[in-house]
Amino acid sequence: MASPDSLTLTRPDDWHLHLRDGAALAAVLPHTAAQFARAIVMPNLKPPVTTAAQALTYRERILAARPKEGPGSGFAPLMTLYLTDNTPPDEIRRAKDAGVVALKLYPAGATTNSDAGVTDLRKCYRTLEAMQREGLLFLVHGEVTDPDIDLFDREAVFVERQMIPLRRDFPELKVVFEHITTREGAQYVAEAGRFTAATVTPQHLLYNRNAIFTGGLRPHYYCLPVLKSEEHRLALVAAVASGSDRFFLGTDSAPHAAQFKEHAAGHAGCYTALSALELYAEAFEAAGALDKLEAFASFHGPDFYGLPRNTGTVTLRRENWTLPETVPFGDATLKPLRGGETLRWRLVN
Ligand code: NCD
Ligand code: ZN
Repeated sequence: MASPDSLTLTRPDDWHLHLRDGAALAAVLPHTAAQFARAIVMPNLKPPVTTAAQALTYRERILAARPKEGPGSGFAPLMTLYLTDNTPPDEIRRAKDAGVVALKLYPAGATTNSDAGVTDLRKCYRTLEAMQREGLLFLVHGEVTDPDIDLFDREAVFVERQMIPLRRDFPELKVVFEHITTREGAQYVAEAGRFTAATVTPQHLLYNRNAIFTGGLRPHYYCLPVLKSEEHRLALVAAVASGSDRFFLGTDSAPHAAQFKEHAAGHAGCYTALSALELYAEAFEAAGALDKLEAFASFHGPDFYGLPRNTGTVTLRRENWTLPETVPFGDATLKPLRGGETLRWRLVN
């Protein structure tokens, strides 16, 4: 079947996004708002968003940073709390009343700004019980942090050591295995039943770990969980191309100033918000699965979260264009993934 030259989709959402705060927030929010109606906003600020009251004030700052007119002006942030060893079960009720939809698990030390994360999930069981009862989702950064485990194996070991016991102990808690990167992660989610789903990023569908080392060290391809080998990339592509409703769009777009990416201890995170749908379209087209893109981007996420699907549409056109190499980021600059390179699809709102 010939591929179409234009694709019109129900307006999509981003189910995993880092917006930061202050000048950084003001710089990146318009990019996401131009593409997506809603986004799940990650709580890993410094300090992290751990209470309902903090989520409400962060939400106000996000709303104030929206474009004043045009399609992005109606963008709706969906707020999350950062789970700690000490999140009181009572906070879950306050969170629900404040419109917070989920809590995020960062195993302590797993990634950017995760020092306040959970040291042992068993310390959180009363809070997880409250979440299961109140219907808040649990968003999981699924990597063990044990330094004895090889970096590339941390997701697969997390499935065995953490996911399987969590599912057994909280069978009706809705769990999203965030930004899966492995065959083991994809297989686990495909078989885990209707209370488990996963987000998949564009970079993990498009690239394997060679991208980090091609022609020199390429820090803009470094994110966490780190890109894996081709076998794993193919498993992720097969999972989304299957059309299974357990997999949905979550960019994990994670802006860092270029000087901290291109650094002796470069920060983890790929910035994809500027061209997210274009990158996903490229990945789905390469898999011969463009017909599965709309449900992945626009239906599976709201259905799993129990939220209405969006109305309205966006259109992607087959058109070569060059992604800017840098964009302003407060006093710094931001280098988008694939900046300066040619993309094959373009959003034409
Ligand atoms: C994220 C960030 O920069 O906040 N980085 C990343 O590589 N994905 C944190 C995260 O989601 O792990
Ligand atoms: Zn993230």
